[in-house]
Amino acid sequence: MTSELRVENLTVEYVKRPRLGHKEERRHKALDDVSFTLPSGGTLGIVGESGCGKTTLGHAILQMTPVSQGRILWDGTDLTKLKGAALRPFRRQMQLVFQDPFEAMNPRMTVDRIVSEPLHLAFGMVRSAQRHTATELLQQVGLDETVLSRYPRQLSGGQRQRVALARALATEPRLLVLDEPTSGLDASLQARTLNLLRDLQADKGFSYLFISHDLSAVAYVAHRTLVLFGGHVMEQGPTATLIYRPAHPYTAALIAALPVPVRKQAVTTAQAIVPRAGPLASKGCIYCPWCDKAQPRCHLDAPIATALDKEHLVACHYPLPGKP
Ligand SMILES: Nc1ncnc2c1ncn2[C@@H]1O[C@H](COP(=O)(O)OP(=O)(O)O)[C@@H](O)[C@H]1O
Ligand code: SF4
Ligand SMILES: [Mg+2]
Repeated sequence: MTSELRVENLTVEYVKRPRLGHKEERRHKALDDVSFTLPSGGTLGIVGESGCGKTTLGHAILQMTPVSQGRILWDGTDLTKLKGAALRPFRRQMQLVFQDPFEAMNPRMTVDRIVSEPLHLAFGMVRSAQRHTATELLQQVGLDETVLSRYPRQLSGGQRQRVALARALATEPRLLVLDEPTSGLDASLQARTLNLLRDLQADKGFSYLFISHDLSAVAYVAHRTLVLFGGHVMEQGPTATLIYRPAHPYTAALIAALPVPVRKQAVTTAQAIVPRAGPLASKGCIYCPWCDKAQPRCHLDAPIATALDKEHLVACHYPLPGKP
């Protein structure tokens, strides 16, 4: 059995209520034709600016958001075709660690209850065994049993993130969707959390979908990286390839904005442009309005994902040459 995750041509469209005085409902494509594979035990980084569809992608994979088109294959089973009880065993295998663990936690539950709840729901574990297992789970994430009786407000940001991780580990998952797991933490806690995630993966063989707007965090943990812009995949491939030989002008712009020690000798042919807010191009390449490499063809034809080599895909008519 392979616990590979394969996403094929995924499109997610949100339907918004009509504006006052209008009849037709509005539709917003948050993801458009997204495809990738995450091999068992690997980490795929999903990177892109706020609003590009990262959280939607995680939620769609976990069947928390309806999928408009495409397939999500886990162990070869298309999750988009399953409902209710048929989906339950798969839900257990895939867990989400939220962007803001404080919001996701019930403020009236102690850490003991927070970590134990899934043990009861998933395995019907009795109370005495729950406490023992909760203590073990907390140890795995570097916390001791003194936090068991505390409430979320009595924990630091780093401790809350670890409790959220311990809760996610309770169902013995194989895939963790980590949505901005370090965004609320200061630099040293970020580094400790990233190291903890790497150690857990080496120990347990988890697969990670690591979602972040921070390319330096992604570069530290992800074997492969996928760059999203406006719900479209701009580029994907081995992380080192994207960092040192970015082919898409948007990836190059993200790298140019990284602190120098992170990008080291990365090719930075593009200026450090942080894409401005504004409408995406409705025809041709959606990145056109921000691209300093745009040519007449880019305004007319939308580029499709093209393989530069076996593992490296880019959606651009004029990919950057990169270093030899
Ligand atoms: N429940 C929703 N209903 C309507 N639009 C949504 C909903 N959730 C997200 N969106 C929109 O979809 C786009 C992608 O959002 P999201 O996946 O949260 O992006 P990210 O996580 O990259 O910041 C944004 O334009 C956002 O406003
Ligand atoms: S297709 Fe053209 S506009 Fe789009 S990223 Fe490539 S060069 Fe820029
Ligand atoms: Mg998000």
